[in-house]
Amino acid sequence: MIGRRQFLSQSAAMVAATSLATWHGAFAADGVLELRARRAEQKLLGQRGAVSPLWTYNGRAPGPEIRLRKGERVQARLINELEEATSIHWHGIRIVNAMDGVAGLTQQAVPPGGTFDYDFVVPDAGTYWYHAHNRSWNQVARGLYGALIVDEEGPVFPPEQDHVLLLDDWRVDGSGALETASFGALMDWSHGGRLGNLLTVNGAIRPVLSLSANRPHRLRLINAANARVLQLDPASFGARVLAYDGQALPEPATLDYAPFLLGPAQRVDLLVTPEAGQDFSLDELSQGQPYPLADFRVTGTAGQSAPAPVLSVNDLPEPDMGAARTVTLDMTGGMMGRLDDIVYRGRQLEGEDLRRTGQMWALNGVANLADEPLFRARRGETILLETINNTAFVHAMHVHGHHFRITERVGSTVDEGRPWRDTFLIGPGQTTRVAFICDNPGKWLLHCHMLEHAAAGMNTWFDVA
Ligand code: C2O
Ligand code: CU
Repeated sequence: MIGRRQFLSQSAAMVAATSLATWHGAFAADGVLELRARRAEQKLLGQRGAVSPLWTYNGRAPGPEIRLRKGERVQARLINELEEATSIHWHGIRIVNAMDGVAGLTQQAVPPGGTFDYDFVVPDAGTYWYHAHNRSWNQVARGLYGALIVDEEGPVFPPEQDHVLLLDDWRVDGSGALETASFGALMDWSHGGRLGNLLTVNGAIRPVLSLSANRPHRLRLINAANARVLQLDPASFGARVLAYDGQALPEPATLDYAPFLLGPAQRVDLLVTPEAGQDFSLDELSQGQPYPLADFRVTGTAGQSAPAPVLSVNDLPEPDMGAARTVTLDMTGGMMGRLDDIVYRGRQLEGEDLRRTGQMWALNGVANLADEPLFRARRGETILLETINNTAFVHAMHVHGHHFRITERVGSTVDEGRPWRDTFLIGPGQTTRVAFICDNPGKWLLHCHMLEHAAAGMNTWFDVA
């Protein structure tokens, strides 16, 4: 006879066994996914290049791809083998607050030698990622990130038609090694953030992916760069949009403009059904010359195209626009911006203070995590967040714990409908309105995902009670 205890441990072992294949053998004996933050040497330029001293999960950047089913529970143990405190944030997951991984807000940073057990359920299907959330400007740039993919309940793309492309922008020196001398450079912090000079896909330079002809393929693009807004042209190879920031659209959308912008932390899932012989490349266009990120070889012969699986849409709480409360977010600071009215830790910054504190961006005049939240919301309340970019730079604003609908973009020609997102881009002089129901209790960060901007002040939070 099998007792209840035995039965439970048996089914736990079964779950672990099925997940093992995708979690890259990172399991401890008790079925917990182990993520060891540790140094590892990696050649960013491939075998002949110089060795870079990266910070990794389990010895390689990007870290292991975590693959789950919608509604599944994740147990992950962060083991910090670095010399710097760290934490893990599960970007885009509508997660229970205590598991959000924001050092200094939802948990203490895990000290060197320490561990932290994350335990949560993934409520939505889609393309997400995880990354360090303590001194992230430093830790993410050194390699502490990975993909987190949640499969839909209904039809999915078969594994050989489902491709994760985790994109990064590294700054390397002349030998091809990660350039570390400029970490924390105020020049980057006050301008567009740490921009790199080497773009990789899943840690490799210009990989070749093979696609079978006449079959629908899902390309999951994730921008893990600290600061670069990737400029892409998916329409050039006939791709349509399946999802933004993890949330599937009711039906695939055609992109009728270029370039398509993918800001730091944003994701887009593309649908492409290539024809035989139509090889193509995914190019990045922000640097004057097209920069090939990846090449796609199309194999097979001409034939009938198979239809794409219809993705089930996540059930997100629709904002109640009639009852929405407007919260205004005034973005200031940065080079060529207003630097004379920034309050940091209760004090007005002046002259040398900017250099000394590294604080040079502000949200409603305050740099970096004031004691008081930007707003307090009742659980269930709809907030209309009106963000006004009074700076000379583009920003990628991320709301933790919730997805929002973009309801209006003033000053932008891009019209992508009213998509659900967790991160929105806002150009200089633009005003963007997003709405969401505050249905997730806790303290949630709201910040620019250009990680140098966040470190230099573009960081606030809100409280849902
Ligand atoms: Cu991707 Cu505050 O995080
Ligand atoms: Cu920014």
